[in-house]
Amino acid sequence: MHPTTSDERWRTIDVPGCWTRQDTGDLPHYTNIVMPWPDTDAPFTPPENPTGLHRTTFSVPRAWRNRDVIVHLGGAESVAIVWCNGTFVGMGKDSRLPSEFDLTPHLVSGPNLLAVMVIRYSDATWIEDQDHWWHAGLHRSVHLEARGRTRIDDLHVGADFDAATGTGRLSVRAHVHGSTGAESIRTWLETPAGARVGPVLDAEVADRGRGSQFEEVLTAVTHPGPVASASADLVKIRPWTAETPNRYRVVTELLDGTGSVIEAHATMTGFRRVEVVDRRLRINGTDVKIIGVNRHDHHPVTGKTVSVDEMREELVLMKQHNLNSIRTAHYPNDHRLLELCDELGLYVIDEANMECHGREISLAHDPRYERAILERTQRLVRRDRNFACVIGWSLGNESGHAPVHNSAAAWIKHIDPTRFVHHEGAERWRLSYGGVAHQDLLRAPTASERLSNDVVTTMYPSIHHVALWAEWAEKTGLDDRPMLICEFSHAMGNSNGSLDQYLDLFWNQPAIAGGYLWDWRDQGLAETDHNGRFFWAYGGHFGDEPNDANFCINGLVGPDLVPHPAMRELAWGARPVTVEHLSGKRVRVTNRYAFADLSGLQLRWSVEVDGRRVERGTLDIDLRAGASANVTIPFTTKRPGGEAHLLVETVTRRATPWCAKGHVVAWDQIALNDMVTAVPRPKRRRALEVETCDTGIAAVVIDGETVVCGDIRGWLWRAPTDNDGVGQGWMSEVMGVRNDWLRWGLDRLTSEVDSITRRTRNSIETITLKRRLVGAAAEATHRTKITLVDGVASFAEQIVVPAEWHDLARVGVRFEVPGDLDQLTWFGPGPLETYPDRKASGIVSRWTSTVGEQFHPYVVPQEHGAHADARWMSLTDERGSGIVVAGQRPMVLTARADHDATLTAASTLAELDPEPTIEVHVDYAVRGLGTAACGPDVLARFVVGPGRHRFSWTIGAAR
Ligand code: GAL
Repeated sequence: MHPTTSDERWRTIDVPGCWTRQDTGDLPHYTNIVMPWPDTDAPFTPPENPTGLHRTTFSVPRAWRNRDVIVHLGGAESVAIVWCNGTFVGMGKDSRLPSEFDLTPHLVSGPNLLAVMVIRYSDATWIEDQDHWWHAGLHRSVHLEARGRTRIDDLHVGADFDAATGTGRLSVRAHVHGSTGAESIRTWLETPAGARVGPVLDAEVADRGRGSQFEEVLTAVTHPGPVASASADLVKIRPWTAETPNRYRVVTELLDGTGSVIEAHATMTGFRRVEVVDRRLRINGTDVKIIGVNRHDHHPVTGKTVSVDEMREELVLMKQHNLNSIRTAHYPNDHRLLELCDELGLYVIDEANMECHGREISLAHDPRYERAILERTQRLVRRDRNFACVIGWSLGNESGHAPVHNSAAAWIKHIDPTRFVHHEGAERWRLSYGGVAHQDLLRAPTASERLSNDVVTTMYPSIHHVALWAEWAEKTGLDDRPMLICEFSHAMGNSNGSLDQYLDLFWNQPAIAGGYLWDWRDQGLAETDHNGRFFWAYGGHFGDEPNDANFCINGLVGPDLVPHPAMRELAWGARPVTVEHLSGKRVRVTNRYAFADLSGLQLRWSVEVDGRRVERGTLDIDLRAGASANVTIPFTTKRPGGEAHLLVETVTRRATPWCAKGHVVAWDQIALNDMVTAVPRPKRRRALEVETCDTGIAAVVIDGETVVCGDIRGWLWRAPTDNDGVGQGWMSEVMGVRNDWLRWGLDRLTSEVDSITRRTRNSIETITLKRRLVGAAAEATHRTKITLVDGVASFAEQIVVPAEWHDLARVGVRFEVPGDLDQLTWFGPGPLETYPDRKASGIVSRWTSTVGEQFHPYVVPQEHGAHADARWMSLTDERGSGIVVAGQRPMVLTARADHDATLTAASTLAELDPEPTIEVHVDYAVRGLGTAACGPDVLARFVVGPGRHRFSWTIGAAR
């Protein structure tokens, strides 16, 4: 880093930027728990340690003379060492917080050489072992600032709100560096538009008392250091909440002894009070429910570097899906994220950069790391305490519970009693994950657990345990804290089964303050394979060993922020307005907002019969926060003559900073009658034949056109979801039901024909097939009776599954139709895919789509595209010719261009080649989705078991 060392052959690199994303040859590495290098123990790193040398030159403007010049490194993974003009200046660790270095003594006139060495791994890496990509470089912004020799170096703005009186209390505490003892501050509040609110406050920097020795002794007990503090009560303050993010600007000037302004600061603030009392999380005196997500800093191209615009896009998407909070998992996110949360309205649990998962217990107790652990919390609080959005501090993740956590909690409670402290590690083995013992679940916390955890925080608890704890806590009062679940509903692949039930508990159990899904965004990285085909890379794609494959792909949205279907279920479960049917036209409307009334919203209703809209209207309704009212929806439909539904949507009346006018924030659908399934039938009779051969069904033909090519077979397999069992990495050997399925041979069942009989009686033709589905060591029987009447083939199926196959993906039949029958309509819940345990948000209607649009790009291809409770589905060509498939009762219907076999074999999107035919599944039962990749499996009622399964369905012509 010496100035004489030539850098002629160095290349330029983007800063901020991870060099692991800039063709340097040093690549990203993904591990969850284990360290990226085996055979090493803390605090050591491997001898070969990627190291980046950065250099840049700058000249100091004249105006900066007599000022201190400070370089700010927003984030460096993992150690940054700084030189100025060849002189060592300092070193910083903690990849996710800024380090600042005073360059002043080293500056020269003319060009100055700033050199920063960033070393990828260090002793600190052991306490940065979060579940995400290991990158390297200066991933957050780097800038220089020129500051007066006398300056405010820490400005703490407090903005409390008393909901009972509507009074805000502003407090400003400025620490002055280089104080002469003569300075003062002048501070005031103003609206974002610049209108002053309340008085101007003046305060002098406290003087140590330089007079007599006696005076010094006296002031020693009161002198707070070179600080100036001012505070005032301000009436008629508009408080800040995530629903009403009212902000003000605090302007603070530092004045010298003559009253001249030395420098001025503007800090945005919001007035609010956070309390954890009586098992409630209260903001401004009102109970709030948190429905949030865990968020990493991640971008598919730039890795850990995310721009403000990109962060805004993420937050807007969260707001549009009714989310109200973020846990900055598992480190302080880029500070500009907090500015945006303040502005747009999202509560934040701000987490320290502390995870030692690879040595979970031992490192937290290792005295060599204690100082660093404490310091990470302290620096986090000092960076972020002025943000209104931060409601709680988290001491880190997966780092056990050691004395240092209690120290950190106590430190926070002293310096910032205005927020709660969160530390999941404190009660990890008591509350988190499935199998806790009841006596440990239902007990008061120990003093030490209580000290470092102001909320009952757990990971991946079952619905049952959450309900049990909530009822116990309310009844006994033995825990004064609300439960706030820091991770639940693991969104890996096609997931989030029974999400609606978790959210119901949040809304309905007073002691549950809510929770954070894991997690927000799939951490795929944009890459192309050697054939030039695009895919999202995950662990192992960069030759990174060891790795945890796709365990970083757990997002509710894809790497490109395209929401996965579960996001719609989440938005629905979190909806701020509910509409329940009372009777007839009467409904009960509830405003679930904690603060906002409904004046910005409008109800939009419509009635559909058999999926066709027959009437609609709008309704104005204003309800204060938390209130309900009975309302009449003035529809006139009386005898619908089909299956009738009332849909009530709540839409925004005008654009907001995060949505357009007319954005749907909530919807509820009400069935107006018992279901009468009207299956569309062609106007004229069509000739439909079912051809058979030795191996089963050969084809279904309508008027000479083949509409089913090949067999219609019993089918018990699906391309495993990540919850069924991941296909890669060490977890593939131990997790999920997938391994059972493979062992039983369900992926390769052969259909053996015992008999096929055709009969015609009274001009009605019947075909009976007796078959067996033969697996590795057992077999199911499959009996089909097909009756052909009026151009419709009715299939009466019976599949008897042996007891050994006790947990199945599905029970149904599968067939293929020609690729040109790709125009899809179904009548049932939509518009997106639905599964037995993820369908609450579905709106029953006649949905028109294409087979291509059924594809959902889960990063690792897997089962998708099902429509639970579908009454019928048609597949036609562009002219409208084709088939209608219907169940005698609602079934799970699927039509996809990617077949089960292709989906099963592929591990990235690049490996998918749509087949020439469309695969159709007509399922009597489908296993739920659950969240078993990390957390509870499907609830018992969503397991598909063995035994006799009987169901009937039909195929007819579409027109
Ligand atoms: C949690 C952990 C997260 C993530 C998740 C699984 O235990 O806190 O960081 O690893 O499991 O995706």
